[in-house]
Amino acid sequence: MAEPEPVVGSGLVDPQGRHLTYLRLGITERCDLHCAYCNVAGATSDGREELPLADLRTLGVAFARRLGFHKLRLTGGEPLMRSDLPEIVRAMRDEAGFPRIALTTNGRLLARRVRALAAAGVQQVNISLDTLCAGAYREVRGADALDDVLRGIDAALAAGLARVKVNVVLLRSVGFSEFDSFLAWGAGRPIELRFIELMPIDGLDEFHRREHVSSEPLIDRILDGGFVPQESEPDAGPAVVYARSGDPLRVGFVSAITKPFCERCNRLRVTPRGALKLCLFGRGFVDLRPFLAQGPEAVADVVRRAIVDREDGFRSIGRPVGCEADRGMRGIGG
Ligand code: 5AD
Repeated sequence: MAEPEPVVGSGLVDPQGRHLTYLRLGITERCDLHCAYCNVAGATSDGREELPLADLRTLGVAFARRLGFHKLRLTGGEPLMRSDLPEIVRAMRDEAGFPRIALTTNGRLLARRVRALAAAGVQQVNISLDTLCAGAYREVRGADALDDVLRGIDAALAAGLARVKVNVVLLRSVGFSEFDSFLAWGAGRPIELRFIELMPIDGLDEFHRREHVSSEPLIDRILDGGFVPQESEPDAGPAVVYARSGDPLRVGFVSAITKPFCERCNRLRVTPRGALKLCLFGRGFVDLRPFLAQGPEAVADVVRRAIVDREDGFRSIGRPVGCEADRGMRGIGG
């Protein structure tokens, strides 16, 4: 069978003129960690909510071939909890035709599996780290896994992925105070170290008040350290990225709270339960599950009609986040 051509569409355009070309697809709520900022509602999962491969394929074909989306991120939960992850990736590359496929992972199981995932079509991984101290890691992320994650990062680099990003959610008591250690650790590594402001997902109120910290003082510090802002690439995410000459390390800041980037938002989310979410902080959602059996065109049509209601949910920060309000970030797709 001839391979289908890759997708080169221009995506959808929402009522505010934003081109939507990037799908973040949650494939499981299961996770082998219990992060302080994610597991807020104590949501646990046995995987029964997960869409099977065939349904994910229908979604992929709808978004890539029918709607012209050209970037896919598989997320969760922890996507590596799914044993059929390589098959999912292959279907997204070969049948849906996504030209760019990224994966967000906690990295714990990555070392063993990254080569197979790269062969299946994953080009980029974002690995969550948050701290370089084993004790703090255990406390914030609920398991003794720092060494496994560090091995996962090395394995991702060794597998030759086009891009390895390391996500640090900025917590006042952890990543913020370790900023210099992170820069020392990252120096010379061909990674992008991304500091992400903690977002007030529903149920995080007390934790957020205690731990949220602005990225601004850190940006001042790296400018003092000889880093300079980089031109953002076409299709770039919301991070503002800095680099210094002679060092492959890139340092990015996702200042979602202090510098919201709604006007540049190019993404839609589908949750592990098959809900189309129009905005991370918005209440708007549409359950796509009833349409999956009708095939990609029916799904694409529902999405086309749904984005008419797309607005900036950012204004409603602090209020419940719609469909999966009680399920924290893992129910939305981090
Ligand atoms: N605020 C900011 N980032 C978060 N993540 C999960 N929950 C939050 C939150 N409340 C991050 C994870 C991971 C990515 C999937 O999203 O740490 O890096």
